[in-house]
Amino acid sequence: MTELFRGRRALVTGASSGIGADIARQLAQRGTNLILVARRADRLDALATECRLFGVTAETAPADLADPVARVDLAARFSDIDILINNAGLGAFGPFAETEWVKIDRMIAVNITALTHLTHLFAPAMARRGWGRIMLVASTAAFQSIPLYAVYAATKAYVLSLGTALNAELSAQGVKTTVLCPGTTTTEFFEIASQKKSAFIERSAMTSAEVARIGIEGMAKGRGTVVSGVANAALAFSTRLAPRNLAARIAYHVVKP
Ligand SMILES: NC(=O)c1ccc[n+]([C@@H]2O[C@H](COP(=O)([O-])OP(=O)(O)OC[C@H]3O[C@@H](n4cnc5c(N)ncnc54)[C@H](OP(=O)(O)O)[C@@H]3O)[C@@H](O)[C@H]2O)c1
Repeated sequence: MTELFRGRRALVTGASSGIGADIARQLAQRGTNLILVARRADRLDALATECRLFGVTAETAPADLADPVARVDLAARFSDIDILINNAGLGAFGPFAETEWVKIDRMIAVNITALTHLTHLFAPAMARRGWGRIMLVASTAAFQSIPLYAVYAATKAYVLSLGTALNAELSAQGVKTTVLCPGTTTTEFFEIASQKKSAFIERSAMTSAEVARIGIEGMAKGRGTVVSGVANAALAFSTRLAPRNLAARIAYHVVKP
């Protein structure tokens, strides 16, 4: 296990559930001090107690990341972090034209605006200190258009594009950006997105602990992009070979109920 993260300080968004909670647990096992962010304070408190058993400090900072004031407040309170895990995110499954605007708006606010704003708030201090790691959690949905997940997939394509560019911009200043692209993962994501899990999803889903491990190891190696699992990596690669419109039609048949 790499010692790279021991004694460092990481802020993890979306730490109350799923992939974010497991990233926090595994960073704690590696000796990283933590700031846990999400809206559900009770869950953050329970996770902080669990993480402290590994001898690290774990603070909680309940916040709604859709609120820009909350983001600025986080940056003011925790300006010295070494590692930013931009994991909080949500999906909304269903026909674009029938999805309530409020859901689409919130998804863009969390998946794109909050992730970009937090990165913009924390990256300059990391660059000044000459060391930093930023993880942006995208998805295999970043590699292609997905009907019925049209906005979600578009937000993740944005995350992949942003992270790849920032890695090239900031690496010379010691700040490396890793875009983690999970495939289907067993978390609360599907319930919140209102998608009934198909047999395919049930069969192919990875655990959030596996995805967290792959993401942290990729970040430790300074990799720009990490896709979780061989099957997902093959799927992501295959999208380069198929015309975009054909890939979208195939995706529609796979995801539609
Ligand atoms: N599960 C999958 O199949 C899958 C696949 C590819 C990518 N991903 C991505 O992985 C990331 C983590 O998702 P997950 O699968 O672990 O889902 P999850 O279990 O639903 O966790 C989502 C996390 O985001 C937080 N969050 C949502 N809205 C927030 C807000 N407004 N302010 C603060 N925190 C907020 C939630 O905390 P609160 O509700 O407590 O605020 C929760 O901790 C997401 O970016 C997701 O898009 C998931």
